[in-house]
Amino acid sequence: MKLKTVYPLYLNNKAAQPNTDLVVTDKYTGEAAFRTALATPDVIDEAIAGAVRAAEPMARLASYEKQDVLNHCVARFKERFDELAYALCVEAGKPIADSEGEVSRLIDTFRIAAEEAVRNYGEIQPLDISARAKGYMGMWKRVPIGPCSFISPFNFPLNLAAHKIAPAIAIGCPFVMKPASMTPLGAIIMGEILAECDILPEGAFSILPASRDGADLFTTDERLKLLSFTGSPGVGWDLKAKAGKKKVVLELGGNAAVVVDKDADLDHALERIIFGGYYQSGQSCIHVQRVIIHADIYDRFRDMLVARVKTLKSGDPKHRDTFIGPMISAKEAQRLKGWIDDAVGAGATLLAGGGCDGNMLEATLLEDAPENSDVVREEAFGPVVILSKFTDWKKALAEVNDSKFGLQAGLFTRDLHKVLEAWDELEVGGIVVNDVSSYRVDNMPYGGVKDSGLGREGVRFAMEDMSEIRNLVIRRT
Ligand code: SIN
Repeated sequence: MKLKTVYPLYLNNKAAQPNTDLVVTDKYTGEAAFRTALATPDVIDEAIAGAVRAAEPMARLASYEKQDVLNHCVARFKERFDELAYALCVEAGKPIADSEGEVSRLIDTFRIAAEEAVRNYGEIQPLDISARAKGYMGMWKRVPIGPCSFISPFNFPLNLAAHKIAPAIAIGCPFVMKPASMTPLGAIIMGEILAECDILPEGAFSILPASRDGADLFTTDERLKLLSFTGSPGVGWDLKAKAGKKKVVLELGGNAAVVVDKDADLDHALERIIFGGYYQSGQSCIHVQRVIIHADIYDRFRDMLVARVKTLKSGDPKHRDTFIGPMISAKEAQRLKGWIDDAVGAGATLLAGGGCDGNMLEATLLEDAPENSDVVREEAFGPVVILSKFTDWKKALAEVNDSKFGLQAGLFTRDLHKVLEAWDELEVGGIVVNDVSSYRVDNMPYGGVKDSGLGREGVRFAMEDMSEIRNLVIRRT
């Protein structure tokens, strides 16, 4: 498989090549993989003007027409499956098996959106709740919010872009998207496929790689009615402060915890925690960072984890047996290596890993890390898992909640009462029982509380954010 050497951006539905200023590297070899255009503020302005013009014709598209567009994408993603997976593997350094998994999820996300496109239901509401409203009835429907601004991250270059693009088409919103500069190709290929859909009015979409400095308009331009950002908490909350009157949806990070109770199936928990802790080198907002284990099984389960972590094969993500590939950059790997070293310096025990070479950080397991160390409190976003011990279920739940974040949590227990208690008590957007925090199906509501974000994705929920309720009241005379 080979990538092209140069890719365009997509401006108002069409390929354009104003320059070739963005060099994207193969994250494993560090060599230049391809070049693409960087949108200047003028180009972004032109795209926003196009999206404003497209708002009305997009809103008028029939449900079946939007469904046709989404189904076309599903068919083309299937045809281009291997190319999409290879592109991810190169630009993100994502191991090929994980890359293929992401393309399958991309297909799911568009398939869900194709179904939701014909289900934009409203409601009839009796208003005659008191004498003054006798003879009145109400009904409401959802109308598209208008031109949207999307900023997508490097860690799932396809599927997290899809979680913005597919609902926008399903509800009828034009959009401008800035993919992550380190991994723009997934979104560019989606642009290439959307450009095949003549039914979309001109301006329906623009896919614009841009430098962070030149991309202010994505956040500040008042013609845009919604900003949906996925990325780091620091950047996300800063953007919200600059976003003016537009609605803001933030899908940010976390330091997710998983609780393993003494009745858990430990072999199953082991496999899932190894996956959740180390898949795509931990670069996921719901990667398992903290594992809270019942004291009765702690030593046994810790030894099982240590033995398994030591077997994880790291290396070239293009090789099918590689589980741990590179992190996105040497800077990120060094940042996390520093946090690990600091925690060990402050008393943590290093059970496995800890080494770092360039952007290859070893799968690392720690115990007894001080509560206030960065590796516990901040979002690691890398292949590091920290173990701790509990004896009382309530205290385990309190430890999950002892975080400024709240995205997802995992629980391994067979006790339904404990599950229901956790569902009441945990300050997170979602709880996964007998699996890890990292588990996600693309139609479920997904998003966080506290510093982890605002709003929910999961197609139907994103369509709600991308629309407004318009009410109609009728008086019978
Ligand atoms: C994320 O990193 O927020 C997304 C995780 C996923 O979609 O599996």
